[in-house]
Amino acid sequence: MAKILIAGCGYVGEALANLLLADGHEVWGLRRNPRSLRAGIEIIAADLAQPEDLRDLPGGLDVVFYLVSPNGSEDALYRRAYVDGLRGLVAALHLQRQKPRLLFASSTAVYDQSDGEWVDESSETAPDHWSGKRLLEGEQIALQALPSASVIRFGGIYGPRRTSLIDSVRSGRAVYRSDPPQYTNRIHRDDCAGALRHLMGLENPESIYLGVDNEPAEKRAVLLWLAGVMGSPEPRAVDKKEASKRSRGNKRCRNARLVQSGYTFCYPTFREGYSAVLEGMV
Ligand SMILES: NC(=O)c1ccc[n+]([C@@H]2O[C@H](COP(=O)([O-])OP(=O)(O)OC[C@H]3O[C@@H](n4cnc5c(N)ncnc54)[C@H](OP(=O)(O)O)[C@@H]3O)[C@@H](O)[C@H]2O)c1
Repeated sequence: MAKILIAGCGYVGEALANLLLADGHEVWGLRRNPRSLRAGIEIIAADLAQPEDLRDLPGGLDVVFYLVSPNGSEDALYRRAYVDGLRGLVAALHLQRQKPRLLFASSTAVYDQSDGEWVDESSETAPDHWSGKRLLEGEQIALQALPSASVIRFGGIYGPRRTSLIDSVRSGRAVYRSDPPQYTNRIHRDDCAGALRHLMGLENPESIYLGVDNEPAEKRAVLLWLAGVMGSPEPRAVDKKEASKRSRGNKRCRNARLVQSGYTFCYPTFREGYSAVLEGMV
């Protein structure tokens, strides 16, 4: 049985906690407002960016997951979530002479590729936007702080209650660009949790993994598939200028490293994943 801290115990964190508790581990969930966390998780109400909140971390931690998200789209909030919070946690662990295994959730936003190129863990990361820059700073802090740390770069996370794409198709707001094709890299929440649990169990993990499903898909294909399944009106094609107002970057993320490490996806593509989400909505 391992002693595990989930820092930023939110959407993915709770799903991960469910898996770890079922495996018989001891799990602490840390967030600023932890009222709603399920029974079985030991609750820590703390702000990671406030050092005084981290004085009493549980001792003897084997693994720490850092799954914090900013609660808004501003550089200062990203810095607080991915840089200041992580620095605060690393400093607290250091002071308490704890050297757990650290798993840091990052994002495919660290890639700036925009011509539909394939990217993997060895591809260039030169983000132009502050969001990718702060994520990359967080990755570097994690990897430098603890030699056994790993980073997993998730694509767009969807699942129960995270249904923005479904809602946009249903309401007729969904649009896509077809020339050049626009790709979307996605992963179901349960595969985020499953992949994190899997990485925790690897003896010699790599330092970076891409966390996306098996099929980077054209956004057009995903929207048309959803519209077909739900009987909604066909989403609209828009020109490049209109589409670029709504999304940054355009790449296809390869998950071969994660798959070769032994992880099997619950939802290998958007079809299985969204079918399960839609079933849960009826
Ligand atoms: N959502 C996506 O599509 C996506 C894509 C790529 C990568 N990711 C990454 O995947 C991970 C999991 O995402 P998620 O959707 O599960 O995140 P989430 O639920 O939106 O947020 C995670 C938790 O972070 C906590 N938090 C934020 N700031 C904090 C602070 N200063 N101190 C303590 N706790 C703090 C929040 O709780 P309180 O507000 O109660 O503190 C929240 O419960 C994140 O690292 C995210 O960056 C997400």
